[in-house]
Amino acid sequence: MPSEVCTGYPPIKDNSAKKFITEKYTGSFGEIEREVIESEFVRQVNDLIGNRNLPDWWNLIGYTTYESELKAYMDEKKNNEFATFEIWKNHKSFIGEYMYKHIFNELVGFALPNKIWVTELTNQLKFYLKKGNVNILSLASGSGCLEWAIETCCPTFNVICTDDYSWTHFHELCEYFHHINIMDVEKAINKYIYDVDAVLISWPPYNDEMAFKALSLILEKRPELLLIYIGEDWGGCCADDNFFDLIDEKEGKDLTEDYTDINKYYQTFAGIYDRVFIYDFKYERGKYYFFEEGVKG
Ligand SMILES: C[S@@+](CC[C@H](N)C(=O)[O-])C[C@H]1O[C@@H](n2cnc3c(N)ncnc32)[C@H](O)[C@@H]1O
Repeated sequence: MPSEVCTGYPPIKDNSAKKFITEKYTGSFGEIEREVIESEFVRQVNDLIGNRNLPDWWNLIGYTTYESELKAYMDEKKNNEFATFEIWKNHKSFIGEYMYKHIFNELVGFALPNKIWVTELTNQLKFYLKKGNVNILSLASGSGCLEWAIETCCPTFNVICTDDYSWTHFHELCEYFHHINIMDVEKAINKYIYDVDAVLISWPPYNDEMAFKALSLILEKRPELLLIYIGEDWGGCCADDNFFDLIDEKEGKDLTEDYTDINKYYQTFAGIYDRVFIYDFKYERGKYYFFEEGVKG
């Protein structure tokens, strides 16, 4: 267990993604595995980890797959949760892309930051908040990669990262990009909520009441804060129903629906439907200048 504040671990410089795949998947995926190892995506992951280079855009489809090989894979692993006939039939590149997701999830994190959407996010937040120096509290930050990306794309942003390190399997392997204050969401909110303009929660654990509890506390203490939620929507694999019901009940208005291009540029992995939501729980029509412009136009 790291000491109370993680000050960033040294980068794993040499081909960590390749090493990870080789150790974890050798022999399981045959041709697909080789192509994934040689893919542009894996090169980009290594560049992110080793050199802190955030790509403008991730190359998620950088290989071809062979039908015969997939067929053999399917025959061999027919009980595997994701190797279904449906996948084989409709998504011939699915397995390779599924490996991309696993590589990224285990080494870096769950939201996939690229320069384009993260910059768009910071621009929109500056606009909504009508200020340049924006402070964000991030809950359950994981490796802090997204938070680092936010500060990298817009240096006037400051993100306080917190996580209780309960996902020990993830924290043992991941590469850290940011200082992480080790505390659970409740303590983090109680400690930092009055110092920030917005709260970020990305990929809160599925079927877990943590996000609901966090949102209840935020709404009790500072309902005027924007909530940046990244993950799948109701019925997906993040948080629990109570979280989404509470957003509805408190009439959280998702600003990304009408006013931003963030989700045009948000990238996600095959079979995953996460996106960015920016909730305003004190939404009033006409509050945002460009909304009024839109109406006039
Ligand atoms: C799916 S990961 C998401 C990490 C990161 N936000 C991302 O998008 O990559 C979930 C994270 O939640 C953390 N976590 C789980 N329960 C928590 C709690 N009650 N308080 C703080 N962090 C928690 C885990 O340690 C893990 O890092």
